[in-house]
Amino acid sequence: MVNIREITKDTTWLGGSDRRLALFENLFPLPDGVSYNSYLIRDDKNVLFDTSDASIAGQFLENLGGALAGEKLDYIVILHMEPDHCAEIADVVTRYPDVQLVGGAQTFKFLDQFFPGLGKDSRLIVKEGDTLSTGNHTFHFVTAPMVHWPEVLMAYDDYTKTLFSADAFGTFGALDGGIFADDHDFEKEYLDEARRYYSNIVGKYGPQVQAVLKKAAGLDIAMIAPLHGPVWRKDIPWFIDKYQKWSTYTPEDDGIVVIYGSLYGHTESAAETAAAYLRGKSGKDVKVYDVSKTHSSYLVSEIFRASKIVLFCPTYNNGIYLPMAALLHDLSALNVQNRTFAVAENGTWAPAAGKLIKEELAKLKNVKVIENMLTIKSALHPTDQTALEEFVDAVIKE
Ligand code: FEO
Repeated sequence: MVNIREITKDTTWLGGSDRRLALFENLFPLPDGVSYNSYLIRDDKNVLFDTSDASIAGQFLENLGGALAGEKLDYIVILHMEPDHCAEIADVVTRYPDVQLVGGAQTFKFLDQFFPGLGKDSRLIVKEGDTLSTGNHTFHFVTAPMVHWPEVLMAYDDYTKTLFSADAFGTFGALDGGIFADDHDFEKEYLDEARRYYSNIVGKYGPQVQAVLKKAAGLDIAMIAPLHGPVWRKDIPWFIDKYQKWSTYTPEDDGIVVIYGSLYGHTESAAETAAAYLRGKSGKDVKVYDVSKTHSSYLVSEIFRASKIVLFCPTYNNGIYLPMAALLHDLSALNVQNRTFAVAENGTWAPAAGKLIKEELAKLKNVKVIENMLTIKSALHPTDQTALEEFVDAVIKE
């Protein structure tokens, strides 16, 4: 059954949602699924913006046929050559052999790597500032290198004032009927997943996102059509402000995130006790996570949200407890900046994790590590009360 939605003049969304996939990129949990968006503009010439992931191929191809309603397809614009959007290009070319492929020079390099020689006689290479006119609509191409692949393009339709934004402004989460962000309580239903998507997929590339936001600021945008998640037609400045914060590594709020690792519950108990003091003394929002149980993508997202992070870590093999070490690796890989960290360590005979964690945190830009470190010997005891309170006070004071 064809399932498409007209989102603005001549412009049809014809994507689909996948609720079966457990891990996006075989890495990131998808408890609420994910959507793959594709858009068709019917004009004197018909143009398709991106295809879909192979998982929704049947629905996508049926939707494309339904949206074209017997007309020919003139162009596929390839904004992004990652397989979650390009997997169906070959199938579309097979069904519509006269179609012309539109992309940047690097787009076609990648196309030849994934689909050697596909459409080699019908390629149109575009670059920054080039346009494609289809009749009423003229699409202006904007390069978006490393948001989050190097070949990424965006396209601005000056007829409908729609920005086709590739992965930018996308989110994890399938579409629950409503195609527009304002069909939903986005802040409640999608914001955490949008942040998790941004921070883990694009987070490393803040400066590149900033460069694109500066270009977008010069456009009169009425609608943003991303490749994942809902389409934006209201409250666009609100979401752009989130992107401003995330891409400059600016905390969204002054909450405190406590992340602990614990083998037998003693470090956990210390972290929970500290969290209670932190909440009681500061009155601020405090969230507590077990690093072994909570997937690192959620922890990364929380660290992008909050201003202060408190790490409680056992010493293991004279080093950092492995799940905590993996999280620290993620923070470095994703270029996390501008945060305040506090570190508490545990060790029964030779506590060493704290010093090693501080060395890892020192590699991050503009990160303050509170000097006061809490050291626990096996378990927190009443004799540690003063040290615990001084540690908590130092976190609040910073
Ligand atoms: Fe949704 Fe970078 O692909």
